[in-house]
This record gives sequence, C-alpha cells and structure tokens, in this order.
Amino acid sequence: MQELYDTPEEELLAEIRQLRAKLGDKVLILGHHYQREEVIGFADVTGDSLKLAQYAATTKAPYIIFCGVHFMAETADLLTSDTQSVILPDLAAGCSMADMADDVQVRRCWQELSTVIKPDERVTPVTYINSTAALKSFCGEHGGIVCTSSNCHRVMSWAWDRREKILFFPDQHLGENTALKMGIPEADMIIWDPAKPLGGNTPEAIDKASLILWKGFCSVHQLFKAEHAAAMREKHPGIEILAHPECSRAVCETSDYVGSTEAIIQYVAKAPAGQSFAVATELNLVNRLRLHNPDKPVYFLSPTICMCSTMFRTDPQHLLASLREVEADHAAHPIRVPEADRRWAILSLERMLDLGSVNKHPD
Ligand code: 13P
Ligand code: SF4
Repeated sequence: MQELYDTPEEELLAEIRQLRAKLGDKVLILGHHYQREEVIGFADVTGDSLKLAQYAATTKAPYIIFCGVHFMAETADLLTSDTQSVILPDLAAGCSMADMADDVQVRRCWQELSTVIKPDERVTPVTYINSTAALKSFCGEHGGIVCTSSNCHRVMSWAWDRREKILFFPDQHLGENTALKMGIPEADMIIWDPAKPLGGNTPEAIDKASLILWKGFCSVHQLFKAEHAAAMREKHPGIEILAHPECSRAVCETSDYVGSTEAIIQYVAKAPAGQSFAVATELNLVNRLRLHNPDKPVYFLSPTICMCSTMFRTDPQHLLASLREVEADHAAHPIRVPEADRRWAILSLERMLDLGSVNKHPD
C-alpha cells in the first residue's frame, strides 16, 4: 500500500479510470452516499443501505467492490451467489453503531426476556441493517426481520402484525423516532441497557412494553442538537431542517423532514430554487448536496464537524488496490459471511426485500 501513498493523486485516479474501463462487467462498484468525493465518482451505483442492498441482490457481476462499511459488504455477500466475490477496500471500515450489539449480548437479552415472558410468542426481533450478519441470523431464526432507515415504518408494522412486541436493535433512535411517528406512545417503550440485568427494567415494565429499544446510537448523528436547529432558524428565516432518523428524538421532532440519505438527496433535488436547508447527517453527503444544488443554500446543522471516520477510510489508494485484485482475478480478502449464519440471515433480509421498494410511509 505504501507505494500507492507515494504515488501522485493524478496518477492514481488515471489508473483507476483506466482499470475501471478495462474491467467492464467483471466488476460492479457500489458507493454509499457518505463516501468521500474522490471515491464516489467511480461508483456505478450510489445509494442508501436499502437501494444498495436491492441492487446487490440483482447484479451478476463476478466482483463487487463495496465502497461503504463492513455490514454493507456482508449484506451484499448474503444477497449474491456463491460465485460472486464482495470486496471491502479497507477491512477496517466498520460501523461503531453496529458494534454496540453483538450476538452474545442479544442472545443473552432474549434469554433474560424468557424469564419474564415467552419472547418467541410475543416479541418480533428487528435489526437495523447496521448490524453484524450474526444478528441478522438471530432475527431470521426467531421470526424477525431487517430494516433500513428508509423502510423502518413498514418493517415495524409488519413486525407488530405478527407479535405484540418488538425488540429493536442496535439503534435506539431509529426505533424510537419511527415508533413515535407511527403514534406509539412513549409510555409503551422501554430502553434495554445490555450492561444491566433485565436491561435495567422491571418484569412488569417488560410485560407491558410494546417496544424494547436497544441502547445503541451512531456517534456521528448524536452530535446534532436541537439547539443547532433553533440557531439556524434564527439566522436563516425560512430555512428547512432535514435530519437522518439516527439523530436524537429532539432533533427529529424539530426537523421539517426526516429521511434516509437517499430520501434527503431527493428532497433537496425536488425543492424550488432559493430554498435553504440545514442538514443533520454526515459531512461528505452535506458537502455533495451543496455541490449538486448550487441554487439552494445548504448548511451543515452542527457547528462542529460530524464525519463518519470509517466511511472515510475508503480512499483512492484502497479502491485502486481492490481494482488491481480484480484484474488479477483474485479477491485477497473477500467478505464472506460464515456458513452457520447464512441461512437465517438471508431469510431476515429476504423478509425485508419482500416488503417491496416503494415506501408507503416515508419516515
Ligand atoms: P442510509 O441507509 O440512510 O444511507 O444510512 C446508513 C447509515 O449508516 C447512516 O448512518
Ligand atoms: Fe455507522 Fe454512524 Fe458511520 Fe452510519 S454514520 S456507518 S451508523 S458510524
């Protein structure tokens, strides 16, 4: 890799362009909206987690380079055939929120719940796609499902249609913001803190709750505050505040629109010229919104920089190294979900994809 860091950027970019053209249909490059500018331009398809998962499920490309984070590459591996290889350019590109719930903790939670209620009869587990394949497998095995930020409303309706309670992990905020929008009273929700017995709840509270929210969060989105929105409104009358649903309840409640990365992009694109926005999501996306909408002032909601450092790990050097691997027909470190997790994890993803792509209830 050092050789690539010693190479002038123009040379790197020229080789990426040349290899990309040469490899044709042999490779598909997927790029999440939080990717840096120097990388996203090389993506064949850009999108939010749902769009990229849906695309991965249909591609026949033998190699898929996923410019995103680990759980996204795992999802692509689960939705593609055994003859296709998924490459994550930098293996250290994880997601700190996904790390906030692991298989052992969630299975312990289920076991603790079973001392109070019968979870397999009364609880549907729902995992945000920002989670390990082992958790997706857990959900598949226990009648549960995966959701993303763009279909959470629909997935939660599906889950409550089956059982009276939902155990939602790992993001407390996405679950809470969506449920509030669906009219679920706050009194019907409890927080599950994995560090405490029974998650810090009484048996009575567990028996009564209809939503059990795992105490997890995104370290990037938690930096946005409702005060930032108030300051923006004062400074720029008429401004619209747009937030990702991983933001806190206070930020989402004060926002004019809450949606996935893709939904935020569409919202700004469709707005009339001159409309100004303050956006509460990752910095690279907000900078790109500004670039692509020069007739609409776009501000970053927080006065401090909120950037996803793991998304940022994918740089032109890592992308080029991955393309060279494909050229040599050799994925050195393909992302491959272990056999033991595959069957149930695929089922939980398929349950989500079967709900379709048109969101009747944009979140
Ligand atoms: P989207 O699915 O909305 O792109 O969100 C992914 C993510 O990780 C947001 O932090
Ligand atoms: Fe994970 Fe947050 Fe980064 Fe999204 S922005 S990938 S939730 S750490």
